[in-house]
Amino acid sequence: MDKKEAFIPYEHVEYPVDDMIDRSNSFYEFMNSRRSVRHFSNRKVPKSVVENIIRAASTAPSGANKQPWTFCVISNEDLKNKVRKLAEAEEKESYARRMSDEWLEDLVPIGTNWEKEFIDTAPYIIVVMKKVYDMDEDATKHSNYYVNESVGLACGLLIAAIHNAGLCTVTHTPSPMNFLTKALSRPENERAFLLMPIGYPAEDAQVPNIKRKTLGEVVVYYE
Ligand SMILES: Cc1cc2nc3c(=O)[nH]c(=O)nc-3n(C[C@H](O)[C@H](O)[C@H](O)COP(=O)(O)O)c2cc1C
Repeated sequence: MDKKEAFIPYEHVEYPVDDMIDRSNSFYEFMNSRRSVRHFSNRKVPKSVVENIIRAASTAPSGANKQPWTFCVISNEDLKNKVRKLAEAEEKESYARRMSDEWLEDLVPIGTNWEKEFIDTAPYIIVVMKKVYDMDEDATKHSNYYVNESVGLACGLLIAAIHNAGLCTVTHTPSPMNFLTKALSRPENERAFLLMPIGYPAEDAQVPNIKRKTLGEVVVYYE
């Protein structure tokens, strides 16, 4: 049997500088057209597309290559409705009591409230779980590293892959999210990180008219 090589050649793809400039600009323009969408159509989405989106998210770098994520894909209508009800109960409490006045004020331009109809409407809901540690079948624990950073990066790629497929999502954090570990019967080493619907936008979907910071506002050069 061949021994696995410890290192293999990196297959680099280089572009002529003009192409590099074009590609970087068109990727920026493409990503700049992404918006968080909160009004979904119930049109079906092929499961294979969702699987490719998750494959893309799973290419994210991760601390010591631990890939400390699980993507729970919910299309079952009853389970979506159960998750919606649980999420809305947390959100109702958050909007009424847990969120500060400043936070509520900051959300005014976004126009969100405790209602999460999209959890019922979107054909797929993905709950991204972070594995705070790994667990063998015999329940032996193993460390994971930089779990939040790693899972955050995977979610960024997930969002980009959803947009690339011509579909929409919104990053939803029905906080605290521990109800999801139980509702989805996940093991104790998994904690809910984000909830993301996947689907087509509703025909009349609108998004808040908000602005992104300019390059000058987000970059500091040291030349
Ligand atoms: C960590 C995180 C949590 C968020 N939580 C929510 C949420 O619970 N509900 C919601 O409607 N949007 C949520 N958002 C989406 C933001 O409101 C949205 O990204 C922001 O307003 C910018 O809009 P854009 O995504 O269209 O550029 C969240 C975004 C992030 C990154």
